[in-house]
Amino acid sequence: MTHNTATIVLGAQYGDEGKGKLVDLIADKADFVCRVQGGNNAGHTIWVGGRKVVTHLIPSAILRPECRVGLGAGMVIDPLAWRDEYEMLQSLGVNMNPNRLFVDPRAQVILPYHRISDRKRESDSSSHGKSIGTTGRGIGPAYASRAFREGPRIADLVRDGAVEALLERSPHLQEGFDAAIRSDFAVIARALRPHVRDVAATACDVLDAGQRLLIEGAQGAMLDVSFGSYPFVTSSSLLAGSCPGNLGIPPWRIGNIIGVVKAYSTRVGNGPYVGEIHGALEEQIRKVGAEFGSTTGRPRRVGWLDLVALRYFVRVNGITALSLMKSDVLQGLPEVGLVTAYRNKDTQKILDFWPTTIAEMENVEPVVEFCKGWNSVVEVSGTLTDPFRDFVQCIEKLAGIPVVYVSTGPDRDQGHWQAQML
Ligand code: GDP
Ligand code: IMO
Ligand code: MG
Repeated sequence: MTHNTATIVLGAQYGDEGKGKLVDLIADKADFVCRVQGGNNAGHTIWVGGRKVVTHLIPSAILRPECRVGLGAGMVIDPLAWRDEYEMLQSLGVNMNPNRLFVDPRAQVILPYHRISDRKRESDSSSHGKSIGTTGRGIGPAYASRAFREGPRIADLVRDGAVEALLERSPHLQEGFDAAIRSDFAVIARALRPHVRDVAATACDVLDAGQRLLIEGAQGAMLDVSFGSYPFVTSSSLLAGSCPGNLGIPPWRIGNIIGVVKAYSTRVGNGPYVGEIHGALEEQIRKVGAEFGSTTGRPRRVGWLDLVALRYFVRVNGITALSLMKSDVLQGLPEVGLVTAYRNKDTQKILDFWPTTIAEMENVEPVVEFCKGWNSVVEVSGTLTDPFRDFVQCIEKLAGIPVVYVSTGPDRDQGHWQAQML
């Protein structure tokens, strides 16, 4: 991580790549770490000293006492989720002082109506077999309210009577906003007030002072609202190019963009999935990799690492280096697949790019090339084992960028830096 520029840790697949682990690992070198998109649809897992902590809304870097953390303007914040996570972290003895934990007043508030609407839309559409498989946290409807310019922001939440006044003007938003919730919101608002700070200005100040800023991405590029597998995507822009805008810093401040990928892939929720694995191997990888959603507990679908998509998202995001996670999970497999191209099911024509429409995505099958498996990722000496090095080199060649970190387990000390770029 360099001074004066921001580093982005970006999910380069369908989310759950292990961003939390990487952020936790490098946050000790950061002065300020911010989330900038989504809300409590995310679930970032960190293992510290044998203890598992999952953060959904607050940057996982809160566990690093040396840095300050911010929830940026581009986020959608459910006050009840904020309260629950705040209390959970506080009970673990984490320093939650307002002088290190900031919330931008421009972030949107998720209301009960947004959660109700999210779940209703999902159950209505599942009867037509078309549900997205959202996390049900109200994320999409909250962003829709922002687009309609009707939803409250954090600045309103902490101003007495402001949310009620907004809801008067948009009565449909009152659904579920009963007396109990109203009183919860009032209590939460009082506790939240000291944390409300211009996160954008703080981030700019941090950079101007030559300190180090880290952006903790949420979700993953393949779930991006424009460039992902629309409509089976989340509702915010996740691209590296959107991060400065969602935080409020100039785009030229972005330095390194680290893409996080698993040695295979997973997806929670519905939608096309080129390279998906079915059957006994799927079960085995899910079991060994503990592939169950950190937010909803749903079993994650499992597939081979898709290098067609990775190459595309490296390009769109300007990813400068990769962090390769969970190679240990594949240990002992005789061979490991990589999706190196797509084949059109009708014409058999080979495609080597990520299709732009869902119809095209649904009409391709993967070309999978198999590499020799590995029994261990690293030698005792710390160097990569031969078969695993070949696998890494294949990824580097097709993605066109280096793998700088190889993670070999969930804990902080389970991993190897291949290059010192931070
Ligand atoms: P995030 O949303 O990108 O932060 O990822 P999640 O926390 O949702 O899911 C990643 C899961 O993989 C978590 O349970 C991590 O503890 C775990 N994990 C991360 N890196 C490794 C690794 O290298 N090996 C293994 N076995 N688990 C890992
Ligand atoms: P992290 O930060 C994995 C998926 C949902 C669903 C789609 C839309 O932990 O990587 P939403 O509730 O956002 O409207 O759901 O997006 N999704 C995630 N999948 N990891 C996440 O976050 C996700 N956040 C949303 O499963 O398919
Ligand atoms: Mg996750």
